[in-house]
Amino acid sequence: MRVLLVGKNGQLGSCFQDIMKARPDYELFAFDSNELDITNRQQVSNRFKEVAPDIIVNASAYTAVDKAESETALAFSVNEQGVKHLVEQANKLDIPLIHVSTDYVFDGSGITPYKANDTTNPQGVYGASKLAGECVTTEGCNKYIILRTSWVFSEYGNNFVKTMLRLAKERDSLSVVADQYGCPTYAGDLAVTIQFLCEQYQLHGSLEWGCYHYCGNLATSWHGFARSIFSLAQRKGMLDQPPRLSAISSDEYPTPAKRPAFSVMDTAELSRLGVTTPNWLNSLNDVLDKLS
Ligand SMILES: NC(=O)c1ccc[n+]([C@@H]2O[C@H](COP(=O)([O-])OP(=O)(O)OC[C@H]3O[C@@H](n4cnc5c(N)ncnc54)[C@H](OP(=O)(O)O)[C@@H]3O)[C@@H](O)[C@H]2O)c1
Repeated sequence: MRVLLVGKNGQLGSCFQDIMKARPDYELFAFDSNELDITNRQQVSNRFKEVAPDIIVNASAYTAVDKAESETALAFSVNEQGVKHLVEQANKLDIPLIHVSTDYVFDGSGITPYKANDTTNPQGVYGASKLAGECVTTEGCNKYIILRTSWVFSEYGNNFVKTMLRLAKERDSLSVVADQYGCPTYAGDLAVTIQFLCEQYQLHGSLEWGCYHYCGNLATSWHGFARSIFSLAQRKGMLDQPPRLSAISSDEYPTPAKRPAFSVMDTAELSRLGVTTPNWLNSLNDVLDKLS
């Protein structure tokens, strides 16, 4: 099976490449944004002609949540227009697109975990651009799986875990937002799930196309996430003395983009595809081992 991976150097893209190294029965064609810029329709078309893939995994996105507020055109160009170019190729070749979206499509006013068909109402440009990418997929793509995920961390790239570990070494005390709730997700676990979906598609020639939620299975706040990172890191000897951690409100930590206060997602629908969601604490443990 020929798998075309877009965005190979991001968190998800890097983890997906790692997973595929153990699967020589798959041919992986992985591209960074220089080799395959999804906003460039001609380049996308040329690459797809060269590779003739059986399935597309889109791990690429414009992900700078705050910067997106002042780079609206760029965010939409990648997250909407770029996705449209992938949809065109998927339809042309009659192959599936596995696409990844975000919990930031919700406004966070919910009090129970969001289901995939709950009303969306993004609060910022990033969320709006990702929702636009979902729409071009659901409205235009014949065979697609959208996996909405949240609070992604890994041993790669920039993420909350790496930021907390860096700050812990630089500071004696830290204030972290405690009134936003969500589910941390290890990019490696998501990559395993995507690989599983590729396998299921290969076996059955189809999947239950649609939009699903995939995230770690314990909700927490950013403050709770930081506490878990520090306590595990201390146990592993990565930190002599963790910083004093105080809980603050979102109002005390203003950011250009508004974040949802509650973006816990219900992942039950994914079990229809045979997917279970992981305990992110176990994955955090593994990521810290890789980082130490
Ligand atoms: N990070 C999170 O907390 C989070 C939360 C919820 C959902 N998600 C979603 O999960 C997915 C994976 O996120 P991630 O954290 O792995 O992202 P990431 O680490 O920021 O990586 C994104 C990748 O997208 C590539 N890219 C950007 N513009 C591109 C373009 N025009 N053409 C081709 N590639 C382009 C970049 O490639 P280069 O490096 O080569 O420029 C980068 O490697 C995304 O869909 C994201 O929206 C992420």
